Amino acid sequence: MRHILIPILLLAALPALAQPPAPPQDARQLVTMPDLPRSLMRSDMLDHLAALNEIIGYLAENNLAAAGETAEKRMGQSTMGKHAAIARGQGPGRFMPSTMQQMGWNMHDSATEFAKVTKGGDQAKALAALQQLTSSCVACHMSFRTR
Ligand code: HEC
Repeated sequence: MRHILIPILLLAALPALAQPPAPPQDARQLVTMPDLPRSLMRSDMLDHLAALNEIIGYLAENNLAAAGETAEKRMGQSTMGKHAAIARGQGPGRFMPSTMQQMGWNMHDSATEFAKVTKGGDQAKALAALQQLTSSCVACHMSFRTR
């Protein structure tokens, strides 16, 4: 009897084995937005990443002025509301829960603070300020998702 049961049990387990494994859990809060703000946010994100990459390059060349200018122009407080003309009230910030908005403001503030620190010409201080900026990216990414 055992000889028959074991192959039967194995066969019964096969469909379960064929299932794709479950993806790891995602604990981030889902934030839904209409297509326009979501695509504006995505293009901002891609530019933030590219700007960070440029900033690191400037820091490596000890060109602190260019690093600071890039941070302010692409991520700083002066960039807030830059979509107003296209978005007309439908900018990404409007669809963010308040903690997410706060994290967004923190990012703009940290970029502006980094730009200020670079004016002091101290590379180690600039790196420390840059990490404050990247920490703001990490904080929001660990908490929220849009899909
Ligand atoms: C206020 C919240 C917030 C901040 C701050 C933030 N992000 Fe994001 N970012 C998001 C969300 C939400 C997504 C979409 C993630 C998802 O839905 O899986 C995203 C997506 C991205 C993506 C992927 C874009 C794509 O191709 O879809 C990149 C790259 C990115 N962020 C870079 C950055 C960098 C670099 C910073 C910091 C300078 C930053 N982000 C700061 C919320 C934020």
